[in-house]
Amino acid sequence: MPGLHSTNGVETHNGHNSLKTTNRPDEWKIEQGLSGAVLPVLDMTGTETKALPPQVFGDLTKDKEAIKAVGDRNQLFTRERKGWIGFVEWENYPEKKAAAHKILTAQTFPPNPEFQLGPIPATNPVLPGTHWKMWHHAVGGELTQIPEDSWDIVLEEKHPDMLHLLQFPYNGEPPKRLVTDKVITPNPLHFVRNHGGIPIIDKEDYSFTLDGLVKTPRTFTLDDLMDEAKFPRVEKLVTMQCSGTRRIEQILLYPGQGDEVPQAPWAEGAIGTAHYVGVSLKKVIKACGGLIDGGEHLEFYGADTYFKDDKVMNYLVSVPWSKVKANEVLLCWEMNGQQLPKIHGYPLRVVVLGYIGARSVKWLYRIKAIKNPSRAPVQSQEYLYFPQQVGKHNLKMTDGIQIQEMPVSSAIMSPWTKQVIIHNGKIRCKGWAYSGGGRWPERVELSMDGGFNWYTVPLQNLSEKRKWCWRTWQYELPCDVEGWVEIVVRCWDNSLNTQPPDVRTAWNWGLHVTSSCHRISVYSVNKTRSATKARLDQFEKKGIPFGPITVPLAFPSQTWEEYETFWAKNDPRDARE
Ligand code: MTE
Repeated sequence: MPGLHSTNGVETHNGHNSLKTTNRPDEWKIEQGLSGAVLPVLDMTGTETKALPPQVFGDLTKDKEAIKAVGDRNQLFTRERKGWIGFVEWENYPEKKAAAHKILTAQTFPPNPEFQLGPIPATNPVLPGTHWKMWHHAVGGELTQIPEDSWDIVLEEKHPDMLHLLQFPYNGEPPKRLVTDKVITPNPLHFVRNHGGIPIIDKEDYSFTLDGLVKTPRTFTLDDLMDEAKFPRVEKLVTMQCSGTRRIEQILLYPGQGDEVPQAPWAEGAIGTAHYVGVSLKKVIKACGGLIDGGEHLEFYGADTYFKDDKVMNYLVSVPWSKVKANEVLLCWEMNGQQLPKIHGYPLRVVVLGYIGARSVKWLYRIKAIKNPSRAPVQSQEYLYFPQQVGKHNLKMTDGIQIQEMPVSSAIMSPWTKQVIIHNGKIRCKGWAYSGGGRWPERVELSMDGGFNWYTVPLQNLSEKRKWCWRTWQYELPCDVEGWVEIVVRCWDNSLNTQPPDVRTAWNWGLHVTSSCHRISVYSVNKTRSATKARLDQFEKKGIPFGPITVPLAFPSQTWEEYETFWAKNDPRDARE
């Protein structure tokens, strides 16, 4: 097998005995697929299999002259509006975009960190977002301070126990024990999914424009929207879910597209429920005289800066007019009885009921009525659901379904996979269930044998049924057996949709929409069994900690007397002729 020996026949000396070997010290680990990132690629297109040399990233380069020729970055990329710290408007200024592109292509940046084929770092923040910080600093001007400012806002507004998947742009989720602790997620614990820095906007200086294919383009302040004589107030309890929720299960099965921002390694916490206050966008469009000339979609502009392929842009996505017309798109300024936190879009964000979170644009500065769905990359390149056999080298954007409504899904928040559970015949489980598009969980079922037999969670153990909302649940799952068991959850929504049985069934290159049944493996120690109870009592009597399940038992499981008594009463091991 060619390729494993990066030492190329050079002798390496392992251990004290100076063993002469051409193996790498981590040969066994690599052979077992535990270090996929260093595995050479095999080229089998010729008559002989060739191992391709590993990719080498050269030193970082910077063409200082070319960068200087672009001009004064503080003037080029200046603050767009008074009271809008960190806001550079790109979409109206192609020449500004071109200048930033020149700066970004006149230098090189470190490659993405490897977090899918290699081990995920054991740190919090898990990934730092080094090159995203570098891009902001490289463009400079109003963007220079954003990475630092944004992290300060995280520390100010989020719960200290948040799990920071990515420091910048900030992506964080609550730990499992807090995800479903409350049916309404407290603001400091609501997950955050950012593609850029956090603009810091003064409410007094805030306004947004509604233009494009509307009869009378207009600008609205927050006071305009809050005037109940003009716009009836709308209050809604809404679950927001990112289409990357539970992505880690797809990554652990097969790595996919590995850009750390679009593909942040979310667990089950990229979902949260909040009470929003705002107005229906339909009424605001009406105040502009309605749509004209085939206006079919509404494109939302967020004031943050997004980087893609050495280009800069604002955060743009769209929703169809039909969704707006149904009063299912809100412009909101309040979250759980408080003004919108800065990190969640202060002063005004879009909340699209029943769609993936990506369409609920934060720090809204413009709405444009357009003919076709947004061509901006977040919508047309990133939030796409590819068929399984379409990957890095053959994907076309048009192969992907634009992800809009999330399918029904659910997750177990307690216990955790690999956990040892001592119980009296029932394992206490809890979690969430949700369905997009205004459908709701009707039935939640749990299995403890990998999905053969299912127990229905009684309705009284589910939180209230509401359109646009998840249901949290808890259940004492009967478990008669001992040893490793596989607990599985699945949900049926009100349209009788349910979840694919396993991750492989719905794995996709973009690692989106992990809606398969959530499976965890736990070790059952069943105290209703007399032998187990006796053994546990011994642990207690001897003061021995119950310890990891893999540690050998510290005392014999049977006395020799018991052993002899058994064989005296029973046939010997081998059969007589
Ligand atoms: N709006 C802007 N302006 N920038 C963003 O990066 N992220 C979107 C959406 N709105 C995003 C945005 C995504 S992908 C999600 S899932 C939701 O915001 C998350 O909302 P939250 O951070 O308030 O939980």
